[in-house]
Amino acid sequence: MKNKTALVTGGMGGIGTAICQHLCKQGATVVASYNRGGDHEAAKAWQAEQLQQGFNIAIRYVDVADFKSCENLINAINTEFNGIDILINNAGITRDAQFSKMTPEEWQAVISINLDSMFNVTRHVINAMLERKYGRIINISSINGQKGQFGQTNYSAAKAGIHGFTKALAQEVARKGITVNTISPGYIETAMVMSVADNIREKIVAQIPVGRLGKPEEVARAVAFLAAEESGFITGSNLTINGGQYLI
Ligand code: CAA
Ligand code: NAP
Repeated sequence: MKNKTALVTGGMGGIGTAICQHLCKQGATVVASYNRGGDHEAAKAWQAEQLQQGFNIAIRYVDVADFKSCENLINAINTEFNGIDILINNAGITRDAQFSKMTPEEWQAVISINLDSMFNVTRHVINAMLERKYGRIINISSINGQKGQFGQTNYSAAKAGIHGFTKALAQEVARKGITVNTISPGYIETAMVMSVADNIREKIVAQIPVGRLGKPEEVARAVAFLAAEESGFITGSNLTINGGQYLI
């Protein structure tokens, strides 16, 4: 991936960090976007930690729920790095609650950050990719967008929507050297999953045939596979990485 620039949204999170590191190892120039509630010092500390581990990763602030903020991010990267070849739409949140108790804020935050973000970020990236006739777009969905999950009507709706977005966009840009794919991870050992109550999480793990949570690196390897130039015939697909928990 030498001479390729990758943007990873949510690049400092559990899965995002593994993706950034993996793409770095493949020789890509990597930009991790962060939110951190605007805590730029925390972001710089993450960057320094990565550098200590041998990963030179650029960082930029964004709120993926905000169209203008995404425009500012992409403009800054275009100026500094000569465009984006690989876009990993990875930022996401959960606000779990039974539907009968879910607030409008819990619904909206999840839809905005997980689904509207697909439009907000990709819309600013796509025209330059079309002009250059090259691009790799990988959208991080979830097993729970495929099967649904008790307590996640908001998240399941957003994550299911992502794959519709992938399939439609894949068709629009296929002739211009751009692939668009979805990855649907199962339960991966990050802060997002560890925030589920221990007794509930144990029951979930018991339903995973492989018998454990997935590792962020296991998702990152698949991202790198789809992001490779050689993967140009794979588009509009949905790659599941879930330890056998849900098979379709
Ligand atoms: N199916 C059917 N019934 C269920 C159920 C399930 N999966 N889970 C809970 N219930 C039942 C309970 O047995 C209980 O029944 P009774 O009232 O008869 O005792 C009732 O529903 C209430 O359950 P809770 O006490 O758990 O309800 P709560 O309102 O306190 O909590 C919740 C609701 C926060 C959604 C909690 O159930 C929960 O955290 N569930 C897990 C959600 C989950 O898997 N989130 C994934 C986060 S990680 C992620 O999203 C990453 C990814 O992409 C994979
Ligand atoms: P995580 O560690 O909580 O990371 C989520 C990332 O999203 C964080 O880096 C966060 O950035 C970013 N983010 C949140 N709100 C944002 C906003 N408004 N603007 C910009 N960035 C924002 O969770 P993760 O497990 O790595 O999840 C990464 C992706 O994988 C998510 O889309 C998630 O839904 C999906 N996924 C996870 C699992 C799993 O089991 N862990 C399974 C399936 C799918 P900051 O930290 O900088 O605020």
